[in-house]
Amino acid sequence: MSTPLSIGVIGSGSVAQGAYLPLLTTLRSQGKVRRVVVSDVRREALDIVTEAFPIDGVTQDPYAVIEDPDIDVVAVLTSMPEHAALTKAALLAGKSVMVEKPMATTLEEAAELLRIAETSPGHLLCAPHVLLSPDYQAMHRAIQDGRIGRPTLARARYGHDGPSWGAWFYKVGGGPLFDLGVYALTSLTGLLGPVTRVTALAARARSERIVDGELTKVETDDTYQLVIEHEGGALSTVTTAFGMQRYKSPAMEVYGLEGTVQMLGDDWAPEGLELWTNEVGAWQLFDSASRNWPWTDGLTHLIDCVRNGTEPYTSAAHAYHVLDIMFAALASAESGRVQTVDSRFVPPLPIDEVEGPHRRSHDRVYDGTN
Ligand SMILES: NC(=O)c1ccc[n+]([C@@H]2O[C@H](COP(=O)([O-])OP(=O)(O)OC[C@H]3O[C@@H](n4cnc5c(N)ncnc54)[C@H](O)[C@@H]3O)[C@@H](O)[C@H]2O)c1
Repeated sequence: MSTPLSIGVIGSGSVAQGAYLPLLTTLRSQGKVRRVVVSDVRREALDIVTEAFPIDGVTQDPYAVIEDPDIDVVAVLTSMPEHAALTKAALLAGKSVMVEKPMATTLEEAAELLRIAETSPGHLLCAPHVLLSPDYQAMHRAIQDGRIGRPTLARARYGHDGPSWGAWFYKVGGGPLFDLGVYALTSLTGLLGPVTRVTALAARARSERIVDGELTKVETDDTYQLVIEHEGGALSTVTTAFGMQRYKSPAMEVYGLEGTVQMLGDDWAPEGLELWTNEVGAWQLFDSASRNWPWTDGLTHLIDCVRNGTEPYTSAAHAYHVLDIMFAALASAESGRVQTVDSRFVPPLPIDEVEGPHRRSHDRVYDGTN
């Protein structure tokens, strides 16, 4: 095990304050992190985190973090439109980068990031990190083991009433598909493989709303239904919106010719699995091994990979493919036509089949017994 790392955080808004900086504080106490430097263009955001967290430096210039030779890993946690440029600069500076979703707001920028990452010395790890959750891994294992037979249909959803902060969520390049639907698409493509065709309908349930205390024009659609064809022949649907109040349905259900497996809760905060197999003839409940699983886990994973000299479990090619699907969905909603999706990625096997370094103490939940 190598020495603790020095981390640069760019963007210290909601997600940094509520999730990633608390995580980094824990990782520091575990000896994985030795230094944390934070950048935000807003001075008041830096004042808040300086007060709340053990931080070794702040700056309003994100490039001061990127160019700091002591920084090993950069976490890009800004609003979406800034992701690509900051990630590109950090990769070119030789850093390993964890970028919040989506990795970019255009496919061209995302493709450039993939190209740079191929030759850059650092890793590129893209949120969301749902493939790392123990419950996702258990669902993947159950499907791979043939417990539900050949998967033919799936359904996933993620929505809420929309953030009350960050006007950029409601401008072009934002919206629930890129902010929330991206989780469901990452999970579904991880389980069922790449997508070949997508069709979508979109609507705008609200034309204006209160954001950061001000009446703000909603400039992007906020309500989506997607119908998707996967390369292996399975069909899936994704429901996502910034106008959903509550739900009690499972985050995701996969239907096979011999059974059904469903993830309870949300895929970023799973609450266990329910499995029906014709063979058993009853629903089996697998209690969650994800109760303390943080959805920020990708940053821990990246830090572990850099320290151990191992490759990340998740690929930037997967994040690119999900972005490709989302743009195809927008084009479908706009044109009223089914869109083909050309990019591909190879979904990773369950983590317990990937050799050595990716093994984690919590990676085995479903093992054929409940
Ligand atoms: N809020 C959540 O619950 C949540 C959950 C998961 C993922 N995310 C993702 O995390 C990212 C951030 O979301 P958020 O809710 O924290 O947004 P936010 O608006 O609260 O924070 C973004 C911060 O980035 C700063 N910023 C913008 N441009 C910058 C630049 N060039 N350099 C440095 N700082 C810059 C802003 O000043 C702001 O403080 C988004 O990609 C979002 O999709 C958010």
